[in-house]
Amino acid sequence: MRIAVLTGAGISAESGIRTFRATDGLWEEHRIEDVATPEGFRRDPILVHRFYNMRRADVARALPNEAHLALARLARHHDVTLITQNVDDLHERGGSGDVIHMHGSLAGATCAACGHRWQAPLAMSPVDPCPDCGKPEARPDIVWFGEIPYHMERIWAAVEGAELFAAIGTSGQVYPAAGLAQHARRRGVRTIELNLDRSAVSRDFDEHRIGPATRVVPEWVTQLCP
Ligand code: APR
Repeated sequence: MRIAVLTGAGISAESGIRTFRATDGLWEEHRIEDVATPEGFRRDPILVHRFYNMRRADVARALPNEAHLALARLARHHDVTLITQNVDDLHERGGSGDVIHMHGSLAGATCAACGHRWQAPLAMSPVDPCPDCGKPEARPDIVWFGEIPYHMERIWAAVEGAELFAAIGTSGQVYPAAGLAQHARRRGVRTIELNLDRSAVSRDFDEHRIGPATRVVPEWVTQLCP
């Protein structure tokens, strides 16, 4: 079966990575405008690098959980396109190949001046020169608010061409990711949501599995991979 899977912060929560919008989430402690916009980066690059350096350190300490592992198993039995909003590498470390990081990745650095990309060191700083143009404008290769997510053409095509669309651990509050379920459904693709609670776009799903990802994802995968 052709399956398009979209994951969000909830799939990594049980690996110890904080989500964004929970009561103890990242956006309770940090203002989105300060750390997740190009304007915030221009205003205070030291603060922004410090924020993502902490995220990179958190991810380096974390391990993939049963939900990440289950999705790798799913791809061994089905034609899976794995799309994630997450900037961690827990899908890859859980055994998934070809993960589409629509919001970029903590593992990447890019130059705000020339767009060159390279592998991010564990700790980045505003004086890091771009290896290509030499300007000290290195930034995390992360898609901030007001920027266009990566790989959208490939994502729309995978969702339209799927027989099943699954969203896992995402609150459905950030577009265009939040619009993928509606897009799938309008094209006759069956939709399923696996989440700790109902998301903001819950009505766009034919089926809901409510619970922690480490329980509901392996159960769902086992049903699809007898
Ligand atoms: N298992 C399953 N779902 C969970 C778990 C869990 N253990 N813990 C939390 N969740 C669910 C929450 O109920 C919530 O619906 O995961 C969702 C996390 O929502 P957000 O914090 O909003 O994260 P996400 O949807 O990935 O955010 C989207 O917003 O700030 C931006 O760029 C950032 O990619 C991110 C985007």
